[in-house]
Amino acid sequence: MTKTMSRILVTGAAGQIGSELTLALRERYGSQAVVASDMRALTSGRLQESGPFEMLDVLDREGIEKVVDRHKIDIIYHMAAILSAVGEEKPQSAWSVNIDGLRNILEIARLRQLKQVFSPSSIAVFGPETPRACAPQETVLRPTTIYGVSKVAGELLGNYYVQRFGLDVRGLRYPGIVSSETAPGGGTTDYAVAIFYGAIEEKRYTCFVREDTTLPMMYMPDCIKATIDLMEADPARLIHHCDFNLAGMSFSAGELAGQIKEQIPEFSCTYAPDWRQEIADSWPQTIDDRAAREEWGWKPSYDLQSMVSDMLTRLRERRR
Ligand code: SER
Repeated sequence: MTKTMSRILVTGAAGQIGSELTLALRERYGSQAVVASDMRALTSGRLQESGPFEMLDVLDREGIEKVVDRHKIDIIYHMAAILSAVGEEKPQSAWSVNIDGLRNILEIARLRQLKQVFSPSSIAVFGPETPRACAPQETVLRPTTIYGVSKVAGELLGNYYVQRFGLDVRGLRYPGIVSSETAPGGGTTDYAVAIFYGAIEEKRYTCFVREDTTLPMMYMPDCIKATIDLMEADPARLIHHCDFNLAGMSFSAGELAGQIKEQIPEFSCTYAPDWRQEIADSWPQTIDDRAAREEWGWKPSYDLQSMVSDMLTRLRERRR
């Protein structure tokens, strides 16, 4: 499917995934075809200079409508969300941003018959009753965080718009995402990014989950590839829509620290688990992503070793 003629809006474009996704979409479909939006001003120069930006709160339906109409948008990547850790501090905001925000986007897309909506989900849809190893595509979804609850509801709502209104909504259950451009904000998997800054800047890091905590993770280039590949996938091949399991790699905090230590021998990591440990313990360690592989050819490129080496190279370059 070609998207050359499409005009794209990205919400949450200042965020960890949104910032890199916007640049990747601009490279692929043309800078003027991709409108970045966020409720915060952009801090990245590249993002600011490479194309249009609109200040937008996803709870402001009229504001979104104006932007969609003004820019003749026909595809929305809806990346604005409140993640698991911040969500537990502000459950009411998490619900409204994640659910009312999504509903605004879906309604605008339905009424204007937009071509597509991307609505990300997360491993947070799983809970303590989900099998921890190789969590199946179809399984128990009884999360214990408000973030997880909102993501389950979001998946169901997205699938409902597909079936009831024929709107093309697609989404992935992202694992923890590791990236070097924009820091993640308020997730339980954030330690897997913060550890790199600790290692480079101070040669030490205090990790907020136990050494043996193993979670599904993914390096940003794979995350971007998965997102764009799913959106470009032949709709006739899709059995699932808003809830694809997606795996990259799985490692424990200790294994990540060990891999960093291979390249920075002075690095030392200590562990001081806090309240986020319980969230981490409620999620599976590995994910069965066969549906994604079969329906749209998903295959990750990075493993722990190649990710660590690329992260360290990029962060060191940035410090020069
Ligand atoms: N990275 C997210 C979080 O930790 C999971 O989707 O909240």
